[in-house]
Amino acid sequence: MQPAVSVKDLKIAYGDHTVIEKLSIDIAPREFLVLLGPSGCGKSTLLNSIAGLQDISDGEIWISDKNVTWAEPKDRGIGMVFQSYALYPRMSVRKNLSFGLRVAGLPKAEIEARIARTASLLHLDKLLDRRPSELSGGQRQRVAIGRALVREVNVFLFDEPLSNLDAKLRNELRVEIKKLHQSLGNTMIYVTHDQVEALTLADRIAIMKDGVIQQLASPSEIYHRPVNLFVAGFIGAPAMNFIRGEIVLKSGTPVFESNGLAIDLASYPFLTAVKEGPATLGIRPEHIAPDGVASGSPTIPGIVSVVEPMGADTVLWFDWAGQSLSYRIMGDAALQPGMAIAPRLDIAKASLFDADGARL
Ligand SMILES: Nc1ncnc2c1ncn2[C@@H]1O[C@H](COP(=O)(O)OP(=O)(O)OP(=O)(O)O)[C@@H](O)[C@H]1O
Ligand SMILES: [Mg+2]
Repeated sequence: MQPAVSVKDLKIAYGDHTVIEKLSIDIAPREFLVLLGPSGCGKSTLLNSIAGLQDISDGEIWISDKNVTWAEPKDRGIGMVFQSYALYPRMSVRKNLSFGLRVAGLPKAEIEARIARTASLLHLDKLLDRRPSELSGGQRQRVAIGRALVREVNVFLFDEPLSNLDAKLRNELRVEIKKLHQSLGNTMIYVTHDQVEALTLADRIAIMKDGVIQQLASPSEIYHRPVNLFVAGFIGAPAMNFIRGEIVLKSGTPVFESNGLAIDLASYPFLTAVKEGPATLGIRPEHIAPDGVASGSPTIPGIVSVVEPMGADTVLWFDWAGQSLSYRIMGDAALQPGMAIAPRLDIAKASLFDADGARL
């Protein structure tokens, strides 16, 4: 199948500072792709290069079957929503929505039909005659999304569209964007540094660091089988616990040893043959002391330092071998700081990394 968007061997440099080097990615029709990564990793640069707002040093950008590497943004068949939604303050919502279409010279009836469709999708029907100053932040952001939607193109690009909104509104609009994608079935490329947005919206997530895609996979794959320490540490809240130690073979069975812990790794699905040597065991807070973990599972002894009730669940921090680790249990915890504990580890859900940080 022809990808909806294809980036081939992209290189982008500012002077002699290379931001992106040899990046390639294909995005399928109807796919919701999220570009996720820390500030400065190159997410906006990559998105802007697809939009045509960014000069590239090398490589090609294809949209559907057209090489658009040198095409003007308006000729690429994309709609874009930015973080700062910069609406025209003196125009009504209706005029804001129709501006681009009027400039493009679309017939009046067509413009009105598109605005009606978009306004109904985004629940803006009753706000069409207001000015931006008479709208809430969430309503303004919906108008900004609407301005991209009225173009009725196949590919939509979003650059952190929700980051200026408060947490409650962000959650609401996130659900609306997902519904929008389900009903429109367009290709969407969505930049964020919010892992919850990435996990909830994406068909696939591309996790970037320093201009390089570290892992491109489904949210579930990225959560359960992170390819390296960076991805493992970036996804999950609280973050995955990392325990440094060593893998040794004991009569043929791999065992992870660290500060008196000896964890049998017979059930760990190694990607390749087991090698002895330094390793890091990664285990998520929700995979320590989970309900129903087998009774023979290894335990980790510690002293509770902080109890964080979160409503539906509780995060417990504890000290072990000079390190602070966390785990999460459902509901309230009958534990106090200072108490000794020895929660079980669900080793089948753990991740192991070699000395270079690559998944074992
Ligand atoms: N005009 C410029 N000149 C030089 N360097 C730039 C320029 N614009 C961006 N950069 C650099 O390119 C890198 C990537 O920037 P980019 O804006 O793509 O990051 P980002 O991942 O979108 O970050 P954020 O999450 O903060 O928006 C950064 O290191 C940034 O400093
Ligand atoms: Mg950015």
